[in-house]
Amino acid sequence: LPDPDVVGLTGADVAALLPRPAAESDKYRRGVVGVVAGSDQYTGAAVLAVGGALLAGAGMVRYAGPGEPVAQVRSRWPEAVITELERPSLDGVGRVQAWVVGPGLGTGDWAREMLAQVLASDVPVLIDADGLTLVARERDLLGRDAPVLVTPHAGELSRLTGAGRDEIEADRLKHARGAAADLGVTVLLKGSTTVVAEPDRPVRVNGTGTAWLATGGTGDVLSGVAGALLAQGLGCYDAGSCAAYLHGLAGRIASSGAPLHAAGVAAAVPAAIRELTGRS
Ligand code: APR
Ligand code: MG
Repeated sequence: LPDPDVVGLTGADVAALLPRPAAESDKYRRGVVGVVAGSDQYTGAAVLAVGGALLAGAGMVRYAGPGEPVAQVRSRWPEAVITELERPSLDGVGRVQAWVVGPGLGTGDWAREMLAQVLASDVPVLIDADGLTLVARERDLLGRDAPVLVTPHAGELSRLTGAGRDEIEADRLKHARGAAADLGVTVLLKGSTTVVAEPDRPVRVNGTGTAWLATGGTGDVLSGVAGALLAQGLGCYDAGSCAAYLHGLAGRIASSGAPLHAAGVAAAVPAAIRELTGRS
């Protein structure tokens, strides 16, 4: 018998949930995403997360980081509003409606301070990658009133909960649910299928992806896509599950049965949205 506590989203469900610009929309009302990702060592994660957010329909993407990723983001995405940071501070970055924090950020003092400042805001925050390593070290960082969406793969969830990676892989639903309850956040657990768990909601399972997505950087794109949906007003549960659906579909479009690269997945996000919602 099917488990009533596990559901899948159809394309029609996602189409109904996806925000579309109203005739009178302006860029601020369409959702401003802040991205705190990348470091002088890992610049690509910043480019990919910003790209995911821009191509998933954010009204504006603000990027804040140090010199190297700033140079990369600036040359790749002239649309982004960029603040080059001399020290880890969000003063002067401007208002956003949701933050994405963590991909390629590093785990040192600079990264920890940026994460703490993002979490001190009063808007939804998506935490991925190095941000999750920092939270695993310092759980108290998660103590905030506004919503949190975490997007671990099994290894990152293992660091967060202490459960073994193999144990998690053997029962991904149980571990995603357990982590959501224990941490009091929404958990999007990545892998061959992606599951989204939130306390008191059925787990949503997504299978739109393709194994070709198992290549470096696709997770960074997903964080940007989900951030754009959060900034447009979806809750963590809907933003996470719609982002997983769109990202998987974009992966299929980018691949067509052949290798893809992460930037190609970001580029295919508009085609995925078009396929779901038509041309209106
Ligand atoms: N089938 C379908 N989708 C898959 C599969 C698969 N077999 N394998 C992976 N994916 C999807 C995941 O669901 C997720 O959306 O690809 C994406 C991979 O995301 P991550 O695991 O976050 O990987 P990514 O961040 O892109 O690259 C590896 O993770 O551990 C860190 O530091 C490491 O930078 C490295 C990064
Ligand atoms: Mg990742």
